[in-house]
Amino acid sequence: MQSLLNKKIVLGISGGIAAYKTPELARLLMQEGASVQVIMTDAAQQFVTPVTMQALTGNPVYTSQWDNSISNNMAHIELSRAADAIVIVPGSADLMAKLSLGLADDLLSTLCLARDCPLLIAPAMNKQMWEHAATQRSVERLSKDGVTLLGPASGFQACGEVGMGRMLEPSEIAEQVIAFFQKKTLLGKKVLITAGPTFEAIDPVRGITNHSSGKMGFAIARAALEAGAQVHLIAGPCHLPTPLEVTGLITRTNVVSAKEMHAATLAASDCDIFFAVAAVADWGIAKPAKEKIKRNGKEVPNIEFVANPDILLDVAKTAKTKGGKPHPYCVGFAAESTNLEKHADEKRKRKGIPMIVGNIGPDTFGSDLNQLLVIDAGGSKKIAKAEKLQLARQLIGLVAKKI
Ligand code: C5P
Repeated sequence: MQSLLNKKIVLGISGGIAAYKTPELARLLMQEGASVQVIMTDAAQQFVTPVTMQALTGNPVYTSQWDNSISNNMAHIELSRAADAIVIVPGSADLMAKLSLGLADDLLSTLCLARDCPLLIAPAMNKQMWEHAATQRSVERLSKDGVTLLGPASGFQACGEVGMGRMLEPSEIAEQVIAFFQKKTLLGKKVLITAGPTFEAIDPVRGITNHSSGKMGFAIARAALEAGAQVHLIAGPCHLPTPLEVTGLITRTNVVSAKEMHAATLAASDCDIFFAVAAVADWGIAKPAKEKIKRNGKEVPNIEFVANPDILLDVAKTAKTKGGKPHPYCVGFAAESTNLEKHADEKRKRKGIPMIVGNIGPDTFGSDLNQLLVIDAGGSKKIAKAEKLQLARQLIGLVAKKI
């Protein structure tokens, strides 16, 4: 799936050492289907060459406003009119100050002033430069003017210092550009998600768990963030990176057992939508051993199970009605081996939730692909086989309409 198909992006490169990361960014944007038109300032060419960027993007690189290869000699107008967005990477303190004042003395700054498309900037500079009152004034002015700032992050800087001003990684910038273009159907909404398996300890080294990679839940978290929501992701043991972490719009709580997941979820259940995607172990161990249970010939241990709390059921019980709709709007998931629609709908009614999503097997566990059957009181709707992120975006679209 390409998330930037048919998007035309002007990639503006200004003069900063982080410019060395722009070839990788251009490739990532193109892999997602975007066409990339590079514009470079004079200083940018000290760090990366137009030849590199032209070879990678397949498009001529523009560096001067006096370029007569553009038929009407108005590169600053022509290039921005064709663009869906201008993305400036890295955004130097100097360029940001210029743009915040509306100065236009080279091709990139003139193009930004003459644009009729969104402008995104990924700042990159030394921490003192970032913290300087003048730069902070630029940031404030640019934000007021509707410019989207991507980062910066805090960390090791090329100059050897550590602090705020480090540019986001190309993959993080690409993810945010993709997010920028998604429909903002959940703007201002709070979304709670459980994801991954739970692990029930038998002793300090053994335990039982469920099959679940966490990919579907994490994809829903990313899609909800892309739609403008604030997300709380409660994750069982899985090794997936937190989606769009640098936006600061996601909180992640890691848990191990179903009991821990239950407590963390109930504590965070003041939300607009709850997606229960986790594969929660139905039974926990009554008395987990404090020490490793020793093997004793052919003897097998007798393990007593206890029922785990049903997290989804308990959140659904707290739901109130807001504007005639259940609040939070609870969405359950069901993996069934037979009769998916019938069993999933029974589960939906038993748990008292408005929507349940059936995983249409058989290759759902750990796979990047899935097929879904979305069931509510009005009937069912199939979402055809696709990457989990694509399914998650469609599901978010459906749920957004319900609330
Ligand atoms: O009852 P069953 O496990 O089949 O239901 C699956 C749905 O319920 C999923 O949405 C799952 O996340 C949720 N669930 C839960 N707590 C449990 C068991 C399941 O939240 N203890």
